Amino acid sequence: MSIQHPSFGRIDSDRIIFFDTTLRDGEQSPGFSMNLDEKLRMAQALADLGVDVIEAGFPVASEGDFESVRQIAESIRGPVICGLARASVKDIEAAGRAVEKAERRRIHQFISTSDLHMKYKLRMEREQVLELIAMGTQTARRFTDDVEWSAEDGSRTDPDFLCRCVEVAIRNGATTINIPDTVGYATPEDMRRIFAMVRERVPGADQVILSTHNHNDLGLAVANTLAAVEGGARQIECTINGIGERAGNAALEETVMALRTRADAYPYRNGIETTRLLSVSRLLANITSFDVQPNKAIVGRNAFAHESGIHQDGMLKNAQTYEIMTPESVGWSKSSLVLGKHSGRAAFRDKLATLGYADLDDVTINQAFQRFKDLADSKKIVFDADVVALVDDETRDH
Ligand code: KIV
Ligand code: ZN
Repeated sequence: MSIQHPSFGRIDSDRIIFFDTTLRDGEQSPGFSMNLDEKLRMAQALADLGVDVIEAGFPVASEGDFESVRQIAESIRGPVICGLARASVKDIEAAGRAVEKAERRRIHQFISTSDLHMKYKLRMEREQVLELIAMGTQTARRFTDDVEWSAEDGSRTDPDFLCRCVEVAIRNGATTINIPDTVGYATPEDMRRIFAMVRERVPGADQVILSTHNHNDLGLAVANTLAAVEGGARQIECTINGIGERAGNAALEETVMALRTRADAYPYRNGIETTRLLSVSRLLANITSFDVQPNKAIVGRNAFAHESGIHQDGMLKNAQTYEIMTPESVGWSKSSLVLGKHSGRAAFRDKLATLGYADLDDVTINQAFQRFKDLADSKKIVFDADVVALVDDETRDH
């Protein structure tokens, strides 16, 4: 099965589109705003990483946002450049002008569709929202053939009404339909069901790309993304390091490595050059001055570090015992065996060999190992310099 898409041409149903929103939804998290130069550097890094779409910002939000979307559209080649707009002519015109110079451009139209949002946020009836969906998608199509429409709070929307909204968006020219879990409330089963329902019930849904956009309030963003793919989504919206509103968005690096590592369950293709994941993560951390936590999957400093003796012994025999992907595949140069109080003799011997002490006799190694254990009890990490000092002490004593 394949469909015809204005930006991607004929696209097969086994191809996953990566839509990165680090510069829009990601930037909306407190403390993560970026200046123009920083956004341009991030956008180039995202293009080099191979993302298919960069959501560069929300042009109507401020002069600065408009200008950064405009400059990204003008200078970054490769990905489709997208600007976000509410269902208002002013927003859509600003987005249209901002992305005008892009090689390929997209306008991302959205409006809330849940009863809760319509009643308290929009103060609108369902029929008014349907009219705005038609107006918004038609107006966006005046600027580009590549129009995405999103049902904000889609996962908490009445299913029958959600299907009506999607139908109106498709009939009025949307070519990508995004159903966000705006507040990170859904479970994987909810997401799988919603996408399967839309595919089954909405006329024309098989001719557009269905997209998933998940927030991480319950720590389920990546799981929900994978479940949505199982239900039929073929565009994944995500951010580097999972930054985004509140608890963040689905992390690009985790999602792409889940797809790759479990290709048995997810037999899909994408264009991401995974060996660049670590450097893009570091660039973002550097620009925003927010480090990722040490235990962050894929890009945290402990993601490929092993301290316990049992794990280190296994790693030295065969890395697959405790690693499900190679560190090189995501940009690390190698795994690390960190020496600490849980480390065993095998890792200690290995460390000695890498520090140039391959020829020590067993007695010296055993005594040095005992001193190392005493030291490790009083220190969180034993560094190479500590090992050198204690081995030199030990050999001098003999
Ligand atoms: O979370 C959300 O619903 C959004 C939309 C604007 C797509 O970010
Ligand atoms: Zn969002």
